[in-house]
Amino acid sequence: MSSKLHVLTGITTTGTPHLGNYVGAIRPAIEASHRHDVQPFYFLADYHALIKCQDPERVRQSTLEIAATWLALGLDTANAVFYRQSDVPEIAELAWILNCVTAKGLMNRAHAYKAAVQANLDSGEADPDKGVTMGLFNYPVLMAADILLFNAHQVPVGRDQVQHIEMARDIAGRFNHIYGEHFVIPEVTLSEDTATLLGLDGRKMSKSYDNTIPLFMAEKPFRKIINKIKTNSLEPGVPKDPDTCTLFSIYKAFATPEETAAIRARYTEGIGWGEMKGVLFDYLNEHLKVARERYDALLEAPEKIEEILMEGAAKARAYSAPFMKEIRASIGIRPLG
Ligand code: TRP
Repeated sequence: MSSKLHVLTGITTTGTPHLGNYVGAIRPAIEASHRHDVQPFYFLADYHALIKCQDPERVRQSTLEIAATWLALGLDTANAVFYRQSDVPEIAELAWILNCVTAKGLMNRAHAYKAAVQANLDSGEADPDKGVTMGLFNYPVLMAADILLFNAHQVPVGRDQVQHIEMARDIAGRFNHIYGEHFVIPEVTLSEDTATLLGLDGRKMSKSYDNTIPLFMAEKPFRKIINKIKTNSLEPGVPKDPDTCTLFSIYKAFATPEETAAIRARYTEGIGWGEMKGVLFDYLNEHLKVARERYDALLEAPEKIEEILMEGAAKARAYSAPFMKEIRASIGIRPLG
């Protein structure tokens, strides 16, 4: 396992996966899961979810749905190690140890924390730390533990997470300097430039803009939401610009180059918006159908998901438990006598 390149990424288990998540992160990760020259580690970051969500039922359900999504879309669990963060107790253990070599000043500079403080200041709040938990403040340390425990060489993440990987590098370097070379210094690989999807309102598809299209919906509401995508008011028959069009941006992210070229020609001819919405719906519906059926079946048999996650945890721990022993010995936490 350890001689291959370790590629690791975490998936925070909140919210419902949307088409933008699929194209930007899930699809490339699933493709990589079939590559036997790398060792992928993908995990459900349920401890991270606690920072944002304190509703136990939602945390549970969301973890289930996100696991089902990745499995339904064809994740190769024979090659990739696919696990739930909370099933690997060494992660939380390492997080504490890393806390003890992490400068508080480094965490003060983390974007998520700074944004929370700024929001308090902007709203005239006297306490800049109002509503900030230690979970939010420490979040980059937990993330460093996720990464360093598996000696990840590469960590594919979106742009918003780059700072956290830089912090993990910093923390790893600090630990190695004090206790000897135990951790690989991880590298960022930007995953989000593969394709940027536009959302319902024409801005980048993102949960924070509330303009997303869920990946798995029943056919009827799916058609409805595709019909809601904003377009300009050009009439059928008038030539249209595909490159500024949300419908086209989504179509292109799924279709082959030949299919995309054919639709591009239809724009020049002046395809009507109603017709193009029909084309897009039919295409996506066909493309996602099998995965959606598998997804529904998995959610009806959650014990199957659980079984796969338990196998993943066993594989993860076969790596993390002996490594944690080494780390404990290196810091002087070892059996007495
Ligand atoms: N914080 C990441 C996000 O919100 C998810 C995550 C948790 C992660 N631990 C990680 C990503 C470790 C990469 C490596 O997207």
